[in-house]
Amino acid sequence: MASSSQIDLSGTTYCVLTGASQGIGRAIAAQVSKMLGPNSVMLLLARNKEQLSQTASLCESKNVKVFYESIDLSKASLLEMNFALNKSLEGRRVTDFSTSLIFHNVGSLGNLAVDTARMQDVPELREYYDLNVFNVIALNTQFLKLFEEVEDRVVIVNITSLCAIKPMSGMAYYCSGKAAREMYFKVLAEEKKHIRVLNYSPGPVETSMIDYVLAETVNKNLRDVFNSFKNQGTLLKPEMTARKCVKVLLNSKFSPGEHVDYFDDE
Ligand SMILES: NC(=O)c1ccc[n+]([C@@H]2O[C@H](COP(=O)([O-])OP(=O)(O)OC[C@H]3O[C@@H](n4cnc5c(N)ncnc54)[C@H](OP(=O)(O)O)[C@@H]3O)[C@@H](O)[C@H]2O)c1
Repeated sequence: MASSSQIDLSGTTYCVLTGASQGIGRAIAAQVSKMLGPNSVMLLLARNKEQLSQTASLCESKNVKVFYESIDLSKASLLEMNFALNKSLEGRRVTDFSTSLIFHNVGSLGNLAVDTARMQDVPELREYYDLNVFNVIALNTQFLKLFEEVEDRVVIVNITSLCAIKPMSGMAYYCSGKAAREMYFKVLAEEKKHIRVLNYSPGPVETSMIDYVLAETVNKNLRDVFNSFKNQGTLLKPEMTARKCVKVLLNSKFSPGEHVDYFDDE
């Protein structure tokens, strides 16, 4: 069942986006920035400050003030997360914004050089889960606490993957992390029906993630799948999936926490 309220970004909007320095995150930031109304604010997070500033320049406009913060989200404390959020609010009240939007786009692939049946490096797994699951949850909670007063204006987009719902050989870190992260957002959506929560799966997209898979994987099946994506030219451009993501959001037909894929019918 689709949730009723229409998402409207044409008012004064506050938008946080993680993993904004390149790839899909940069493309979503640029696409979203075009939709925002006067006095809107964007906060872009990732580690690479230089690349963040490039994304910021794509987003800055007469309507939108852009802040960016270099932050390692695998290690960030709650204090650091709150500091970044509050700094971008610059004394403005949360009630000043008609929509408060967060994109959890940050993501990494984990160790692709170990067979699933030989995974045992728990500190490495913890670090993977810190970035891809635990700190996503922690940042989301800081955001929810900050906007508690206007919770019914909150919109959350988790950038998920087909790998969250379909096993892919050689990607146990990634698939298990994406599944856990998506399920957290589904549970949240189940509890908080007045908050709009979307799990958006961008399809196979031409970003550094694809090159990382081909460089690192020890799994032949995975290498074959990604080589065929590359050789057959079936990879999407980041801008294509970013446009679709924003379209799904603005159409607002998704049910609470629904997993919507780039290739799903509209
Ligand atoms: N590409 C695909 O085919 C595909 C398919 C399905 C889902 N996705 C999902 O889409 C999202 C974006 O992926 P992408 O393909 O655009 O990947 P990407 O080009 O590798 O971008 C990943 C982003 O995450 C940031 N990041 C990585 N580690 C970080 C850390 N420790 N702290 C803070 N930021 C960090 C990176 O910035 P810094 O390096 O500057 O920190 C970068 O901005 C991910 O969630 C991914 O799982 C991608």
